[in-house]
Amino acid sequence: MSVSRQGLRLPYACKGGVCYTCRAKVLEGEVKMNKNYILEQHEIDEGLFRADLSQCHPVSERVVVSFDEH
Ligand code: FES
Repeated sequence: MSVSRQGLRLPYACKGGVCYTCRAKVLEGEVKMNKNYILEQHEIDEGLFRADLSQCHPVSERVVVSFDEH
């Protein structure tokens, strides 16, 4: 687990885009990944993203994500 600046406990392992432990799904809003080496386009279209704190950021005012829906 990693702790975000907001105090959220987030799953991670490598923080390097290799393990996919940080995979999450956007349920509401929009996020942008700076880099993506492992997600296929159809997964991105389904709302999946890497939630590494250094590689992803929200681009909408409100974002709701789930780490349980893959
Ligand atoms: S923590 Fe390994 S891909 Fe995100």
